[in-house]
Amino acid sequence: MTYTLNKFAAECHDALKADPGQAGRKKVLESVKKALKDDEFIREYLPDTAEKERNIIYEDPELGFCICAHVYKGAKKGFPHDHGTTWAIYGQAVGETEMTDWKVVSPAHDDEPAKVKLEKSYHLKPGDAHLYPEGTIHAPLRDGPTKLIRIEGVNTDRLKRSRIEPV
Ligand SMILES: [Fe+2]
Repeated sequence: MTYTLNKFAAECHDALKADPGQAGRKKVLESVKKALKDDEFIREYLPDTAEKERNIIYEDPELGFCICAHVYKGAKKGFPHDHGTTWAIYGQAVGETEMTDWKVVSPAHDDEPAKVKLEKSYHLKPGDAHLYPEGTIHAPLRDGPTKLIRIEGVNTDRLKRSRIEPV
């Protein structure tokens, strides 16, 4: 393996420590692309035998960002969602994801979820990586098996997400 998880995590850590904003995230995006190109890395961390669809393979003890390995064995339709107060990077390793971006037409209020409308759709192909800033709403659609490397600014297992409904 030419690119190791240790090296990947250290590059992300250094980039985000120096600049947690756009410049740091762009560097992280480049590191994700490096990992996506490394067949051995993909074999090791995104094995066909993965038991769970989402595996956190690294969580930074200081900055809180996570490197997640996703293995979807069949088609899967995601619902429009944001990542609460954090950002994320989606990197496509295997297969293809149709990503859709959604725009808020009426914000959430009282018990009503935010209403969102489809804005655009594009394909993430192997090697592609895309940054989703805080609050951006997207839904991944997959026609077949896919594997992704995702970075979360903080572990979204612990985040409260907005309630969102497509119109
Ligand atoms: Fe997402």
